[in-house]
Amino acid sequence: MKQTFRNLLVLMVLCATSLGLNAQVNGELWQDTNGKHINAHGGNIIKYKGTFYWYGENRPYRGFTTEAGVGVYSSKDLKAWKDEGIALAVSETAGHDIERGCIMERPKVVYNKKTKKFVMLFHLELKGKGYEAARVAFAESDSPVGPFRYVRSTRLHAGKWPFDMTEEQIAYAKTTKANDWKDWWTPEWRKETEKGMYCWRDFEGGQMSRDMTVYIDDDGKAYHITSSQENLTLLISELTDDFMDYTGKYVMVAPDGQNEAPTIFKNNGTYWMICSGCTGWAPNEARMFHSKSIWGPWTQVESPFKGNNASYKNFPANKTFGAQGTYILDTKALGIKGTESRFIFMADIWNPEHLSNSLHLWLPIKFDKDGTPEIRWCNDFRM
Ligand code: GAL
Repeated sequence: MKQTFRNLLVLMVLCATSLGLNAQVNGELWQDTNGKHINAHGGNIIKYKGTFYWYGENRPYRGFTTEAGVGVYSSKDLKAWKDEGIALAVSETAGHDIERGCIMERPKVVYNKKTKKFVMLFHLELKGKGYEAARVAFAESDSPVGPFRYVRSTRLHAGKWPFDMTEEQIAYAKTTKANDWKDWWTPEWRKETEKGMYCWRDFEGGQMSRDMTVYIDDDGKAYHITSSQENLTLLISELTDDFMDYTGKYVMVAPDGQNEAPTIFKNNGTYWMICSGCTGWAPNEARMFHSKSIWGPWTQVESPFKGNNASYKNFPANKTFGAQGTYILDTKALGIKGTESRFIFMADIWNPEHLSNSLHLWLPIKFDKDGTPEIRWCNDFRM
């Protein structure tokens, strides 16, 4: 009798799955296989041995600080997600970099084929210090679901200039004095910022690092892309072969452009970067850049968000449909066939009252006749 009941239960679960329970609808809560909203924000997805792993900020229902750590979910089909718990847990030791109550944001996990380690980079703010630490942190694990071992946190490139700055440009930057500027956004301030004023201000202590992503290129090289210099300027930095450090080669992108939430993909030899503006949890208009080389020059074009379809709370395309990007899934690179589009833009619709309940927004990236990316609202799409 017991056996029959169990079989019936298994059958019911199987039917529910194939009928589309767990199918994700944009603008609604996304249930995991336990029926709970997927609490993984600002993260990314990798595939390892036939299983997808989705990493993200595990956020509390109330409050802004990190109480648990970085969460991980697994899936065989990108639709039914199983909660695998906390991949990198906060520390209970007072004074530890990732002490409970710190802020861990925008975690990105990548697999390193050479070291056979899963490497996690994330934005770290120290407990009780608001957003002033502005550090990147590294953790690693032998298993995709962790436990990840916290390694260290740091600012970037102390004592190093961007590799593309000439001696003349460096000499100029050294004459700038960021702390003396009272009024931002004047033409003079802009000029100095674009010439590396904040790079010089933070030269000794290292460059700030907040919203970030990690990109692995076709040749296996990894890059850290981060919002730096008071969120004014993006930095693109090459990582070492083990992904645990920097080679020292980096560039400044779009100085004084105030870009956050960087996401990136490559199509037919062109790199595309989609970012947000800087308005905290509130949505703003996305920005897009393209380049033939990861090192630039990067050209800014119109936001890819188009169309008037009804979206989340009717946020229009010029408010990124209420969301802020976190990652771009390259389904081809992950060996997924039959999706509506090769690239999927993953974003968060933040809920600052209840961050754990922030919604997920996944939209296919299409291309117009000139090959420029376009993203339109849809409730659901073929995955
Ligand atoms: C956003 C950023 C988030 C988080 C938030 C805090 O602009 O993208 O990752 O830092 O600000 O207000």
